[in-house]
Amino acid sequence: MTMSTNANNEAEAGHHTPNAGAARSIDSLQHRGKSYPPSPEFTAAAVASADLYAEASDPQAFWAAQSRELLDWATPFASVLDWTNAPFARWFADGTLNVAYNCLDRHVLAGNGDRIAIHWEGEPGDSKSFTYAELTAEVKKAANVLAGLGIVAGDRVAIYLPMIPEAVIAMLAIARLGAVHSVVFGGFSAESLRTRIDDAGAKLVITADGGWRKGRVFPLKPTVDAALAGDPSTVENVLVVRRGENEIDWWGERDSWWHDLMGSADAEHEAQGFEAESPLFILYTSGTTGKPKGILHTSGGYLTQVAFTHRNVFDLKPESDVYWCTADVGWVTGHSYVVYGPLANGATQVMYEGTPDTPHAGRWWEIIQKYGVSIFYAAPTAIRTFMKLGRQIPDEFDLTSLRLLGSVGEPINPEAWNWYRNVIGGGKTPIVDTWWQTETGGIMISPLPGVTATKPGSAQVPLPGIAVDVLDDDGRAVPAGSGGLLVITKPWPGMLRGIWNDPERFVETYWSKFADAPDGPLYFAGDGARLDEDGDIWLLGRVDDVMNVSGHRLSTAEIESSLVSHPFVAESAVVGATDETTGQAVVAFVILRADQAEAVSPEDASEVLRHHVGSQIGAIARPRTIYVVGELPKTRSGKIMRRLLRDVAEGREVGDTTTLADTTVMQVISERLASAAGKRGPEE
Ligand code: WTA
Repeated sequence: MTMSTNANNEAEAGHHTPNAGAARSIDSLQHRGKSYPPSPEFTAAAVASADLYAEASDPQAFWAAQSRELLDWATPFASVLDWTNAPFARWFADGTLNVAYNCLDRHVLAGNGDRIAIHWEGEPGDSKSFTYAELTAEVKKAANVLAGLGIVAGDRVAIYLPMIPEAVIAMLAIARLGAVHSVVFGGFSAESLRTRIDDAGAKLVITADGGWRKGRVFPLKPTVDAALAGDPSTVENVLVVRRGENEIDWWGERDSWWHDLMGSADAEHEAQGFEAESPLFILYTSGTTGKPKGILHTSGGYLTQVAFTHRNVFDLKPESDVYWCTADVGWVTGHSYVVYGPLANGATQVMYEGTPDTPHAGRWWEIIQKYGVSIFYAAPTAIRTFMKLGRQIPDEFDLTSLRLLGSVGEPINPEAWNWYRNVIGGGKTPIVDTWWQTETGGIMISPLPGVTATKPGSAQVPLPGIAVDVLDDDGRAVPAGSGGLLVITKPWPGMLRGIWNDPERFVETYWSKFADAPDGPLYFAGDGARLDEDGDIWLLGRVDDVMNVSGHRLSTAEIESSLVSHPFVAESAVVGATDETTGQAVVAFVILRADQAEAVSPEDASEVLRHHVGSQIGAIARPRTIYVVGELPKTRSGKIMRRLLRDVAEGREVGDTTTLADTTVMQVISERLASAAGKRGPEE
């Protein structure tokens, strides 16, 4: 194990109170001691073995060996890691490869062209399967289409698509050309899409007329049209996939139908090798300021890590497994564990367009039964939602094909973990609780199935080749049994290479907190963590102003600036309040402008503002609750004390208010809210 747990460290640990910390540590205490060793049969057949930890005692040599084994390099690399310009890393920099070739052509050349790559299931019940040979052919054509539209290596292409096969085909076609994709989740608004298009300087947008969600078509093309209206942008062309068959407007000069161009595209396209450090994608994620960060990932190191982790963490047997990751390709989990990891490994996977409860609450379990899914990877929010609905729903389906379950995106509470294992996994499947981030590219902390005795609620140990630690504020490792800040202590191949257009923010955000460590700067993840008596890691949630709602990252600052952009609002503060189902929920406190406070009722103002945030950022950012208040709790230096607002939002006794400029403020807020009993928005 590469993590130094420092069980004997004499230093007394500093205590952090991350957002969800208090509740989780009580939960964890009740479950301490329970662990599930792998069955001897599972271990005997497992892909991973305990030897991996020893092999990774020299992480660079380990990653080099993994990369050579898992990938096909056009030009083999000799250089492994260049960290001389830390924190700007270069991995395998003198090698060249083509990422799409590694995900497609080589499997066909190896005789696996007839293996199913994707079983795609549309929400209305239509379905389509692609073999590796068919997917390769589609991607070659798409690469020719893009080249025909003038896309060359290094160009940025924005993707705004539903979960349809064309999303994967488009991403791989862009990668095949050495161009850079920026996938924007289909739930984001026109404004959010435009910000991302502008920041990346995208030349082309690939979208669809619409996609299926919750039993109806939601239009996408109009959002692209709205995003591109107004000031000229860098976008020259819009490529439109037909899916929803909804009516759309058309700009003849700018827009083309995907099927038209694909229909006449050349089927041959030879993949060229690109430098390992050539950019593969930009993916925007929320940070502590209002402006989303364009997380940059490159090719060789990223593909190495996602291929390694996908194979070992999910115990993948490509010949026999049917794998399903429910994430949307608009998030990093979709990039790494729907597209690049599984396809690099030649896996057969399921991809589903719609929502889990359409047309009935058993849809996911029906899909598992239909395709015989053996490996299933989902978010705790979904598990908790199903738990609330009751086991009679999954019990109607045959889930015996499942042999491994994964969890990602937020802490999974032991109760949900146990339910997942017992009800979905039939009481026998190992669960891998995988901690990672958009920035890390791939999984970093997780049990290894067949090796680790799993523990409900804990992500447990860093993977082989990954070095992490839990530090107090002064950079001292905390002893077992204490909490602190999670850091990554050594560079890793899938690490972000920067923030697009903003190298200073990259250094400042991730590398400045522990910049003076003896062996170079440490990566500060923004998460609180606790080490238990065994040295296992328990993630406790964000320690910064980033919220995690249903496994999606949202920035308090971004929502606050959206609220104050509305003419009703004078001031606002947003907190992530603990929520039984979604992990956290967005709760906003607003002060109305004096002229508005008279004219509009707090209920009406809340409703208008919820919709305002939804249309400015996207439905996922819409606050669950908006409280109209007369004042906000501030320190003497004017800083809003979110901790106190969180107390109110979570219905707790308000904590220590002595540092407030006006100590009566919280009392007034609490009393007012108790009498108004705060308006809760309808469930989305
Ligand atoms: C949280 C998603 C606890 C964490 C892959 C992290 C988790 C943020 C886990 C990244 C987990 C992710 N246990 N917390 N297994 N996985 N997180 O960038 O706070 O969307 O910093 O990447 O999600 O979210 P992101």
